[in-house]
Amino acid sequence: MKRAIIIGATSGIGQEVAKCLLLEGWQIGIAGRRQSALETLQRVAPDQIEIQTLDVTQEDAAEKLNILINKVGGMDLFLLSSGIGFQNMKLDMEVELNTARTNVEGFIRMVDTAFAYFRKNGGGHLAVISSIAGTKGLGVAPAYSATKRFQNTYIDALEQLAHLQKLKIHFTDIRPGFVSTDLLNDGKHYPMLMKAEKVGRHIADALKHKRRVVVIDWRYRILVFFWKMIPRWIWKRLPVKTNG
Ligand SMILES: NC(=O)c1ccc[n+]([C@@H]2O[C@H](COP(=O)([O-])OP(=O)(O)OC[C@H]3O[C@@H](n4cnc5c(N)ncnc54)[C@H](OP(=O)(O)O)[C@@H]3O)[C@@H](O)[C@H]2O)c1
Repeated sequence: MKRAIIIGATSGIGQEVAKCLLLEGWQIGIAGRRQSALETLQRVAPDQIEIQTLDVTQEDAAEKLNILINKVGGMDLFLLSSGIGFQNMKLDMEVELNTARTNVEGFIRMVDTAFAYFRKNGGGHLAVISSIAGTKGLGVAPAYSATKRFQNTYIDALEQLAHLQKLKIHFTDIRPGFVSTDLLNDGKHYPMLMKAEKVGRHIADALKHKRRVVVIDWRYRILVFFWKMIPRWIWKRLPVKTNG
């Protein structure tokens, strides 16, 4: 029996991946802060789903993740989808710090707990949803783009650590472009917007094949390829912003 844990499955991309894994017969444990959203999804397949509320920014989240793993009876795949992001050109300090608390502090808490579980239990598959936003610093969303870059680098580091310690842990870093979810529900226009269902299916397929880095979709793969090559002196002058 295949067992997966998904943190951030109460909406958006994480929830879509959860639905795909259910169709493939996985036992899943899902988490997020919203109890009612967890219960709604659980009603879809009560025999296959365990739930646990947790807030990744709180210290007890690691313990709650371990409780969820026990409820499911173990973990073969861990997927972290929880995250927040905002445009913040005014540099509202609380917005920047909250983003760091969730996408950096919460990320470390969850990913390290999963790593420790796999270290103790003979290995597994550790996957995260970061973003293409980590490719270069975005002036419209400093904390979001920087925290996503942090996530990319952290997974690179854990992969090397796993190798050093001879652990059988596979890593997947999923980097979508714009997806139509609550995260972008701010009334602004986002180009090349993808449907969450389609992105969820793409991710489930990439997980099945244990891909290491996945940029979704092909249009964004081309964009990121050229984006990486833009020299700093040009990048700082580019008017990269969405229309409000
Ligand atoms: N939408 C995009 O365009 C896009 C593009 C690239 C990458 N991503 C990334 O994809 C991931 C999922 O985002 P989404 O687009 O699916 O947005 P979403 O629908 O807003 O989902 C975010 C998920 O994160 C959970 N979450 C947020 N803060 C949390 C906390 N403190 N503790 C526990 N769970 C928390 C939410 O659950 P609760 O509210 O119930 O806690 C929710 O399940 C994020 O990491 C995001 O950065 C999104």
